[in-house]
Amino acid sequence: MIVLGVESSCDETGLALYDTERGLLSHALHSQVAMHEAYGGVVPELASRDHIRRALPLLEQVLDGAGKRLDEVDAIAYTQGPGLAGALLVGSSVACALGLAIDKPVLGVHHLEGHLLSPLLAPHPPAFPFIALLVSGGHTQLMRVDGVGQYELLGETLDDAAGEAFDKSAKLLGLGYPGGPAISRLAESGDPLAYKLPRPMLHSKDFNFSFSGLKTAVLTVVKNHPEKIVANISEQDKANIARGFVDAIVDVLTAKCVAALKHTGLKRLVIAGGVGANTQLRAALDAAAVHKKFQVFYPALEFCTDNGAMIAFAGAMRLQINPLAAKKDYSFNVRPRWSLDEIREI
Ligand code: KG4
Ligand code: ZN
Repeated sequence: MIVLGVESSCDETGLALYDTERGLLSHALHSQVAMHEAYGGVVPELASRDHIRRALPLLEQVLDGAGKRLDEVDAIAYTQGPGLAGALLVGSSVACALGLAIDKPVLGVHHLEGHLLSPLLAPHPPAFPFIALLVSGGHTQLMRVDGVGQYELLGETLDDAAGEAFDKSAKLLGLGYPGGPAISRLAESGDPLAYKLPRPMLHSKDFNFSFSGLKTAVLTVVKNHPEKIVANISEQDKANIARGFVDAIVDVLTAKCVAALKHTGLKRLVIAGGVGANTQLRAALDAAAVHKKFQVFYPALEFCTDNGAMIAFAGAMRLQINPLAAKKDYSFNVRPRWSLDEIREI
C-alpha cells in the first residue's frame, strides 16, 4: 500500500510517499523560515498562502522521485492538527481534493503522533515499548509508548515548550529566528562556568517541565549585564550566556528522561521533535545511556523537524492496524488544538 503524506501544520510544507512493503519512497520539503525570519516568528497568514503555493510542486517532486503516478497512491494522510488553523486547512483541503480526484480514501493524522513515530523510519528502529521525549517548538512531553496509538502521557511542560525556550532565549541574545540551532552553535564556544542558570523543576519528583523561568533568567542576565544592551555584549560573553542556557535545559531534559526510564523500568528511549536535532542534548543523552545502561534512538536529522515523511508513515501505521481508518469522506475538518490523549483509541 502506498500512502501519500501531507504536512502543513506550521511553517514547513512537506510531502512524502511511504510504501508499506518498500518503506519511504520519496519526500520533499519546503521550509518557510527565510520568509518568516524578518518578522521574528511565524506569521500565520503568510504561512497559509505559502503552503498553497508549494503543495502541488512538492507533490510533483515526490511522484517524480518515486517514479509513481498519482493514481498509484492508495490513501492520503494529512496533518489534521494540532497547528495553525489556516495552515492546516491548506494541507487538508489539498489532501481531500487529491483524494476526490483519484477516488482514494483520506485520513487525518495527529502531528505529534507523526513526530512520535518518526524514529521508526530509521534503518534500525526501536521495538515497543519505549519512553518518548517529544521536544518541539510547541510541545514538551514525556510519554510511554506501547504501540501505535498506545500512548500514556507521563508529564509535560507547564508553560513554554523546550523549542520555544530555545527560540525566545536566542531572540534575547539577538540571534535570528528560529533560534534553536543558532544558540546551540554559539553555546559550543561558551564557558560552562561563566553563568550558572536555574534548572527548573529538576527535583520536582514528577515528569513535568517548566521553561519560562529559564528564559526569564536569560533576560535577567542580559538586563543586568554591564553592557546593558545585547548588541554591545562581546561575542564570547554571548556564547557564555548561551552555554549557561543550553546546559540548564539539557540537564533538565536528560534527568527527566532518566527518571521516566527508571520509573517504568523500560530500557529504550526515543527522542522526537525539532529540539531532538540538538547536539548538546544528544551528547548528554548518549552519555547517560552508557552510564545508566539504556538505548537511545533519534530520528534522522531531516525527520526531527516537521516533514511529510512522518505523516505518511503515521498514516500507513494506522491503516495497517485499521484499513477502514481512511475514508472517502472529503468533508475535512481541522483540529488546531488536539490532545494526543484523544487518539489513544484506534
Ligand atoms: O518539531 P518542530 O520542527 O516544529 C514543531 O512542531 O514545533 O520543532 C521546531 C523547534 C524550534 O523551536 C527550533 O528552534 C527547535 O525545534 N530546534 C532546535 C534545533 N533545531 C530545531 N532547538 C535546539 N537545537 C537545535 N539544533
Ligand atoms: Zn512539529
